[in-house]
Amino acid sequence: MLGAFLAGLGAVLACLVAIPFGSYLRPSPRREGRRTRFDSAALPPGGALLLRLEGRPLLVLSGPSGEYRALWARCPHLGCTVVWDPSSGRILCPCHGGRFDARGKLLAGPPPLDLAPAAVRFTRQESGAVVVSEF
Ligand code: FES
Repeated sequence: MLGAFLAGLGAVLACLVAIPFGSYLRPSPRREGRRTRFDSAALPPGGALLLRLEGRPLLVLSGPSGEYRALWARCPHLGCTVVWDPSSGRILCPCHGGRFDARGKLLAGPPPLDLAPAAVRFTRQESGAVVVSEF
């Protein structure tokens, strides 16, 4: 009876060790890279698009030559989502008036920091889609 109990306890302990170790070895979506996509026709030069990458707001901006760059769109003041203002060419925070230039540099308002650049790669596909992958 005691032997069967100890054997069962040993099996449970082995599972408690093996399951997390097995999860570590198996590639997870997070390790394979996080990605989202957009249609390149929806982002002309000089424009911006607000996307979500793994639930986080990502502002993708297109430069004058059509090159892309991305900033995390979470305001460093209290976390509101910033928006692109095409008429001023600035990024604005609707909550308390934070203003940033098109590169995310703080211009005015209560935010203590610039917007955080996003380490992403853009891959253009033949279909016109652009895949945004986080490094
Ligand atoms: S949350 Fe953006 S200025 Fe306050």
